[in-house]
Amino acid sequence: MNDKFSEQTVLWVKRHSDKQMTFAITRPADYRFAAGQFSRLGFKDGNGFIWRAYSIMSPEYADTLDYFAILIQGGEMSEYLCNLKMGDTVLLDKNATGFFLPQRFIDGKQLVMLSTGSGIAPFLSHIRQPEIRERFDSIVLVHSVSFQDDLIFSGSLKDALADDPLVGEFCKQFQYIPITTRETGDGLHARIPELLRSGALEKACGFEWTKQDTRFMVCGNPQMVEDTLRTLIELGYQLHRNRTAGQVIVENGF
Ligand SMILES: Cc1cc2nc3c(=O)[nH]c(=O)nc-3n(C[C@H](O)[C@H](O)[C@H](O)COP(=O)(O)OP(=O)(O)OC[C@H]3O[C@@H](n4cnc5c(N)ncnc54)[C@H](O)[C@@H]3O)c2cc1C
Ligand SMILES: NC(=O)c1ccc[n+]([C@@H]2O[C@H](COP(=O)([O-])OP(=O)(O)OC[C@H]3O[C@@H](n4cnc5c(N)ncnc54)[C@H](OP(=O)(O)O)[C@@H]3O)[C@@H](O)[C@H]2O)c1
Repeated sequence: MNDKFSEQTVLWVKRHSDKQMTFAITRPADYRFAAGQFSRLGFKDGNGFIWRAYSIMSPEYADTLDYFAILIQGGEMSEYLCNLKMGDTVLLDKNATGFFLPQRFIDGKQLVMLSTGSGIAPFLSHIRQPEIRERFDSIVLVHSVSFQDDLIFSGSLKDALADDPLVGEFCKQFQYIPITTRETGDGLHARIPELLRSGALEKACGFEWTKQDTRFMVCGNPQMVEDTLRTLIELGYQLHRNRTAGQVIVENGF
């Protein structure tokens, strides 16, 4: 076996729609990651390899590595994942990477997680980490998708958390806000920057946002990340950097 990557077995695959799937692979005993980081997954393609980043959806203490993939028509990795089934193998790069970590905030009491599409994946890992629930009094997960059917986590999320022995007791601190942008249904119905500007998202959170207490993490469509960051800056918040503390951490989801 190569010392830069390993071959892992697919444990289960769930197809939620023609463009959305979740799956789990075996986790090597020495594979360490922090919630919010991503793996590089790959497969052998002729004489070479195809590698793509996938945010780890499972918490740090899980025995398996779980992922949420959006399948892109004509995409090389998407075509591979499209045919994936239990017992198949996926290549896993040796190290997880990334800096999308709420512990980078040195203070704050409320955490607002803003995601579109597959950008929800790192947050699904964060919300199952007990320390995040101890660190923040309120945690809000916002997920924007185009259509109601794309909200594949909405039904199970609260129940799954409530049943989790490690974080279940913190469930009342947690809120999930779905957004559908191209049809009406549960939740709100405009893009995140517009909902930030209008105050509708703050209102839906049910608490006042302040520079002192509120922290934002943004992940998803790169254009959404850019537009959302710009809007938050217009509203008076700052990008968090290691040398200058701010209120916003971002990650481009693709
Ligand atoms: C840090 C990081 C984390 C990522 N985490 C995930 C994840 O958890 N789940 C996931 O599905 N993808 C994730 N991606 C994207 C992933 O790496 C692949 O790009 C994607 O799965 C498509 O691969 P592909 O080879 O099929 O197509 P590519 O050739 O890689 O992509 C083709 C085009 O599809 C669009 N695209 C790519 N990924 C997405 C996406 N997720 N949603 C909408 N449009 C997209 C882009 O416009 C891209 O140029 C992540 C990317 C980065 C950089
Ligand atoms: N969603 C579709 O109708 C559709 C159809 C065919 C193919 N695809 C392709 O399938 C892939 C995955 O699509 P996806 O729907 O999961 O991801 P996506 O296109 O990133 O959309 C997810 C969410 O992000 C919103 N969004 C997009 N750009 C934004 C911005 N600049 N600011 C704020 N919010 C923004 C979308 O709103 P909007 O709904 O307003 O865009 C939607 O609510 C993409 O490659 C896409 O091109 C998508």
